Amino acid sequence: MTNYNLIVKNLTMSYNDKDVLDDISFQIEKGDFVAVLGKSGAGKSTLLKCINKLLISRKGEILINGNDILKEKGKTLQNTRKKISFIFQDYNILDNLYTIDNVLTPFLANKNFFSSLLNNYTKEEYSLAIKYLGKVGLIDEAYRKSKYLSGGQKQRVAIAKAICQKPEILLADEPVSNLDQKNTEDIMNLFATLNKKKNITILMNLHDVDLAKKYSKKILGIKNGKILFYKKTECVTDEELIQLYN
Ligand SMILES: Nc1ncnc2c1ncn2[C@@H]1O[C@H](COP(=O)(O)OP(=O)(O)O)[C@@H](O)[C@H]1O
Ligand SMILES: [Mg+2]
Repeated sequence: MTNYNLIVKNLTMSYNDKDVLDDISFQIEKGDFVAVLGKSGAGKSTLLKCINKLLISRKGEILINGNDILKEKGKTLQNTRKKISFIFQDYNILDNLYTIDNVLTPFLANKNFFSSLLNNYTKEEYSLAIKYLGKVGLIDEAYRKSKYLSGGQKQRVAIAKAICQKPEILLADEPVSNLDQKNTEDIMNLFATLNKKKNITILMNLHDVDLAKKYSKKILGIKNGKILFYKKTECVTDEELIQLYN
């Protein structure tokens, strides 16, 4: 039996009566690397936000390891959510925090009110944060304010922050669109390594077709809120890409 990490079934999402995702269904295997391509406004960001329940879809099912996240509440939902990390285009890094604290903040979600007020992190949490800052090459920046970091460095902090939570699934919304070519390559290589070595499932919105071709195993083409194609990257034809952006 195939080991599906994520199954999206008949997902429909609308803003003010206008459907922006229309009956979307697809499945992702554990350890897959799927790039989502489509014109601006196609519905890519909405799709990722629905999967993470940042947006509530109108209809459909989203199964994480078989459990429907849309039906879950409370502690069960919290546990399923822990399996997913979201990386934003604009990093979502707070300038006035020390870099290490930016990596640590997601741990606050598991703490009681007073511990979270006092930023009481455990030794294990600190060592994890240090470990992953090392992995993204930012150990020397741990105790500097994040405002002194470059765009590429901030994106690497965001990746360390996401990976520190040991997610099974990484959702990334155009994570390299604000970066120059060198940083783009470094960051994409880092994603590729995480995918390969840690078997982290990746679903990534990209605006650059060449990056999708180079790094992803499958491409999900979305046009006007519908799936135009979903197939192995090497099987996607130029005609399909032309149709996607037409
Ligand atoms: N908060 C919102 N309210 C109303 N319409 C929205 C909102 N967010 C996105 N949209 C619309 O939904 C459609 C899909 O947007 P989006 O998911 O951001 O596309 P993409 O990420 O592919 O560029 C677009 O037509 C956009 O204008
Ligand atoms: Mg978008």
